[in-house]
Amino acid sequence: TLAGVDLLGEIDRLRKERNAVILAHYYQKPEIQDLADFVGDSLDLSRKAAATDAEVIAFCGVRFMAETAKILSPEKIVVLPDMAAGCSLEDSCPPEQFAAFRAQHPDHIALTYINCSTEVKALSDIIVTSSSAEKILSQIPPSQKILFGPDRNLGGYLARKTGRDLLLWPGVCIVHEAFSETELLKLKAEHPGAPVAAHPECPAVILDHADYVGSTRGILEYAQTVPGDTLIVATEPHIIHQMEKAMPEKRFIGAPGADGNCNCNICPYMALNTIEKLYLALRDLEPRIEIEESLRLKAKVSLDRMLGMAS
Ligand code: 13P
Ligand code: SF4
Repeated sequence: TLAGVDLLGEIDRLRKERNAVILAHYYQKPEIQDLADFVGDSLDLSRKAAATDAEVIAFCGVRFMAETAKILSPEKIVVLPDMAAGCSLEDSCPPEQFAAFRAQHPDHIALTYINCSTEVKALSDIIVTSSSAEKILSQIPPSQKILFGPDRNLGGYLARKTGRDLLLWPGVCIVHEAFSETELLKLKAEHPGAPVAAHPECPAVILDHADYVGSTRGILEYAQTVPGDTLIVATEPHIIHQMEKAMPEKRFIGAPGADGNCNCNICPYMALNTIEKLYLALRDLEPRIEIEESLRLKAKVSLDRMLGMAS
């Protein structure tokens, strides 16, 4: 039983004792974001994981992010507080089906969103995150045919933005799919002039109403620079914690789902991580990410291309 354990004190003691770094995504619960050594978007978290000299990485995010850390830093112990923290985009792209899709289009390269399994990374040519996708795409010759997976919303957004013809895999994020255009329009009417910032995992009907589209870090930077006293935020609402900390005088409203509030837009996978499970992961060094070496090396090729092209 954990009753009576000073969890925050023990996490602090263990992180020093184990020489551990705690990395957290912006979609984590506020109490996890607040104790992390670093909070970031997917690209910055992968850069941190590649560069850290800690012996242990306690990854507070979802499994594909912790796997990315392990692919880039194989000599480190990588723990994920809850191994069930998956991702609907990863689930929407089984490796065998992705391999068959690639085989049907041998003249296309595979540009793949980091939200996928290690197996799918190993089957891909270049990985992208939402913050690096446009920069990477701009370095690929226009004559090169490209298939993009697993997120059809991010892929569709990139195709519209750059004018490139991308062959899309039909995956979606259940969290970003849940925003309601009708409810968003009602909210905008209640807050005339309030800008909307959205993540490109949102469907086009939501992005059409956005004043800014970008990664979690991009949305945070936009929130700090956009004038006005209210911002509507169309991504996982835990990111609002960072905005409220940085700008306590400003109002941030999570874009609504069909029920009129933003609770259905909480990522159920991200929410599996808790302070208790983080404490246990640091104490027991379990659950641990392990990746078979030949698979890791294949996945590392496409991830290294991303890090090189995004820098
Ligand atoms: P970014 O933090 O890279 O914007 O990605 C968000 C996300 O989908 C995490 O699931
Ligand atoms: Fe996956 Fe969506 Fe959750 Fe991000 S928010 S981890 S894309 S299910």
